[in-house]
Amino acid sequence: MEILLAKRAGFCFGVKRATQMAFEAAEKEGETFTLGPIIHSPQVVQRLEGMGVKVLSDLEGIGNGTVIIRSHGVTSAELEDAVRRQLEVVDATCPFVKKAQEHVKRLSHDGYTVVVVGDADHPEVQGIVSYAEGPVHVVGSGEEAARLPNMKKVGVVAQTTQSFETLKNVVKECLLKGGEIRVFNTICDATAVRQDEAKALAREVDCMIVIGGFNSANTKRLAEVCSELQPRTYHIETAQELDASWFQGVERVGVTAGASTPKWLIDEVIERIQEFDNKKKG
Ligand code: F3S
Repeated sequence: MEILLAKRAGFCFGVKRATQMAFEAAEKEGETFTLGPIIHSPQVVQRLEGMGVKVLSDLEGIGNGTVIIRSHGVTSAELEDAVRRQLEVVDATCPFVKKAQEHVKRLSHDGYTVVVVGDADHPEVQGIVSYAEGPVHVVGSGEEAARLPNMKKVGVVAQTTQSFETLKNVVKECLLKGGEIRVFNTICDATAVRQDEAKALAREVDCMIVIGGFNSANTKRLAEVCSELQPRTYHIETAQELDASWFQGVERVGVTAGASTPKWLIDEVIERIQEFDNKKKG
């Protein structure tokens, strides 16, 4: 059985950086926390917990220690709260997310009504929005943007994982709403690149394995796009979930992983598939 691994499977730049920073912080002495899970990988969170890093939903009652800011960022109020409590802050916010936050701050400061293209419930968007000093709207589609009021000056930024198509549709509507418009394309292509590679792979193989947290939106989406092309697609978190029966009659198996999946989980999955294959050969 041939195992084909997607070139860009696993950690994106921002997640890799945040994870490294978290493990480095964990190795130092003293209490260490993250505000929410550092990344959407229960196995990474578990490893960090094993090293004493606690996951908190807020900083209530915390008076000392180190707080690590996750890759998709936190709100400005949460960051200020950490500083007020004199905690040591390890800011692992992905630089691309940080850029979006900075654009919102600047636009707002310069009198623009800010339109953020994204999912209002997503913590990254909540963080980005929190940097606005004036009016701000979150829209998830062109249709939603069409319902916005008229605005004199409009500044548009996007959640990093948005599709370019959605940003384009929102901008089109904003052009009809505002006299002056500034657009910052803050989309990061890591998600789109992973999806394109996964689709190409799914077309070539008899079975697809997608590895990543069940709580990871980008992994779930990867599994969805693969299933559309390859019905024998399985979304797993760890190698233990693999089942030998999935590989019956399979000559080529494709493996990909979400942007928050560590390399060690990918390696374990590949090893287990190889073991199944060796058993099959007898
Ligand atoms: Fe950053 Fe893009 Fe990853 S915004 S966290 S590099 S998906």
